[in-house]
Amino acid sequence: MASQIRTFLQDRIPLYQRLERLPQQLLGRSPFMGDITPARVPLLGIFSGRPTLPFPHPWNYGKPIRILDTYFWDADADDGPGRHTRYLDVPGFAPVLVTRDPGLIRSISADTGDRPGQFDRDTLPSGGIARATGKDSLLYANGPSWKHQKKLSTPPFARTTLFQPEMFAEFERTFRHTVGHRLEAVRAHIQQHGGPVRVQLEPEIKAVMLELLVNNFFGATVAYGQIRNRYVPAIDAVINHIVFDTVVNKVGCPLHRMPGLSRGITDAKAARATFEELTDTVIATRKQGLGLWAQFKSDVPDELLRSNIRVFLAGALEATTSYASWAIAHLARNTTAQEKLFAEIQGINEYTPGTLEQARYLGHVLNETLRLTPSLYFHPRRASADTWVQTAGGLRLYVPKGTHILLDIWHANRHDDHWGTAATGFPAADFVPERWENIAQAGRNKGTNELLHFGFGHGPRFCPGKSLGQLEVALVVGAFVKLFQFVAVNPANEARASVSTKPLDGVLTELHLRQ
Ligand code: HEM
Repeated sequence: MASQIRTFLQDRIPLYQRLERLPQQLLGRSPFMGDITPARVPLLGIFSGRPTLPFPHPWNYGKPIRILDTYFWDADADDGPGRHTRYLDVPGFAPVLVTRDPGLIRSISADTGDRPGQFDRDTLPSGGIARATGKDSLLYANGPSWKHQKKLSTPPFARTTLFQPEMFAEFERTFRHTVGHRLEAVRAHIQQHGGPVRVQLEPEIKAVMLELLVNNFFGATVAYGQIRNRYVPAIDAVINHIVFDTVVNKVGCPLHRMPGLSRGITDAKAARATFEELTDTVIATRKQGLGLWAQFKSDVPDELLRSNIRVFLAGALEATTSYASWAIAHLARNTTAQEKLFAEIQGINEYTPGTLEQARYLGHVLNETLRLTPSLYFHPRRASADTWVQTAGGLRLYVPKGTHILLDIWHANRHDDHWGTAATGFPAADFVPERWENIAQAGRNKGTNELLHFGFGHGPRFCPGKSLGQLEVALVVGAFVKLFQFVAVNPANEARASVSTKPLDGVLTELHLRQ
């Protein structure tokens, strides 16, 4: 157990700094100062009834949301700033700060970047990702290396590129063709069997999302059967290995150097090789300028792009699958919202930037999905120096160098203090797209008073794939609602989480063809 605690809290702080803080830690003094005074969470909460320990270890790493729950156990009884911001401080290690306060999340996100004293993205929770994809990626890098990569890779995904009329029309056509083709197969199946079918939709959604990325975005021509039966399972296995590897691989040994002693390692190596084959396939289309490669204005050698391509393939697939799966899972439990959406989009045959803008309720459904069930449920940050951070409301917090910060989006977005009836007209825990109409009417969708769900992040490390991802998800959800009426098999809509969150039941749904 001690070694697991060490693995999680391991940091790059020199020994003298650790020793310097030791007396304060032993006395239980808070390392934080200012107007926001985070409440301390004990390492061991014996008899407290907490769901688990406040750090990942081999028995709880599969349920990361419960680890975050642990930080806010009984926090609603606290009326002070500790209600939404808490910390763990184990003698000899760097403090861990967890916040579900949207004001603080916003300030820390805005103050993340490459300038001296700004926060970094914490690389500790993504050690396994870096071993699988490479450290020289936009997701993992910090400082000047991150800045350089962001400049290079943002233009091809940018709204201004995707939403140029010609570019958009071509994309929309190929996307719609791909989605339509897949849904047609399900439609034919239902017609043949007469009556509704029960399907777990997540694997189907994932295959469509990968096809969109590989064939439409990168311009490759990989057969659907290969995508569905070979590449999706390989990426799933790579992601499962990443999560396990982050918690358990204490020495940081890369997979290719591990001896194939167990079935798990051999399978992970095979999956990794298949994933690499797909990476080669999409890099090969660059020379011909296929797909969005035509927008990529750089002569960096292919090899230097490899880590980012892996991140785009696996990361974008995770995020878009999570987003579309949740949207369909919510609509499957809210038939009134489903019918309202159908009424809005039934006349839309082609999506243009204009029709997307007019499809207001679809926008509300997607916003509400990302609010209640964000794909990335926490954003990791690290204090690169002793830092004062200030919220828009003028509250200040001193964060000592080396602090690990978890911006807890999951809990921030479902707390009534921030998103409840007083602020939005509806309880925070409910899926209600109409909430966004109230927010717009109250003028709370712009400026410093804006209610942010952080579904695509905030500040300099904002998601560069937002426009592409939104377009993919809008098309998949729109096409699906047009063709089917669907109800969830399980009334409860629980979550499972690893790299991203997904519906626990894999979107198990009963589908009926619309007349
Ligand atoms: C549509 C679903 C998507 C969601 C919900 C999503 C969500 C996010 C979020 C929340 C972040 C910020 C993380 C942080 O602040 O720590 C992020 C960053 C990122 N996303 Fe996305 N994303 C999506 C799609 C995509 C796509 C399609 C791509 C690429 C094609 C992509 C590539 C990235 C990259 C490279 C970063 C890191 C940016 C940086 O650190 O500067 N995402 N994403």
